[in-house]
Amino acid sequence: MRVKRMILTLNGKRRTLTVHPLKRLLDVLREDFQLTGTKEGCGEGECGACTVLVDGVPVDSCLVPAAHAHRARVQTIEGLSNHPLQDAFVKFGGAQCGICTPGMIMAAVALGPRPTLADMQTGLAGNLCRCTGYSAIYRSISRARAPAARARTPGRASTKRHTQRDSEGYARALRREGIRRGGGAPRNK
Ligand code: FES
Ligand code: FES
Repeated sequence: MRVKRMILTLNGKRRTLTVHPLKRLLDVLREDFQLTGTKEGCGEGECGACTVLVDGVPVDSCLVPAAHAHRARVQTIEGLSNHPLQDAFVKFGGAQCGICTPGMIMAAVALGPRPTLADMQTGLAGNLCRCTGYSAIYRSISRARAPAARARTPGRASTKRHTQRDSEGYARALRREGIRRGGGAPRNK
């Protein structure tokens, strides 16, 4: 198989590249586009550190050939500057280690603006953390507010009040699931 011309929309910009179609998307991003925010952990589809969105769907870029991204929209962590999830991961302790965090955030983006605890457990089941646990990650996701969510809720009197109410709901959901703050783990992949 020979190199082919690839066209994609990468973080909102149209890009072209001549590449072997079986080169891993992870390597295309890191080597050809110098987008090193996407990390390699296991390299075999187990850890989720390399998660990016292809046409809005989270994929393990270590398992995806470049050809799969041809004419697709690819979003990486670099495309999320100033996204509320980035701020929330810093503020609420979800940024635990540098390797896993970009993949966790990309998987969280795919959950949409108001995921439930069950949504978070399912959506991040393929993103493994073995250092600290998932409570701070879930807390960060539940407290982030995507711009689209704000835009869809005009007229709400107080964002702060809703944030507080959501946080209380999140705490209740944690208790229902028997997950302690600072501990716990999602179900296995
Ligand atoms: S590096 Fe891709 S899943 Fe682990
Ligand atoms: S966040 Fe990377 S191992 Fe826990």
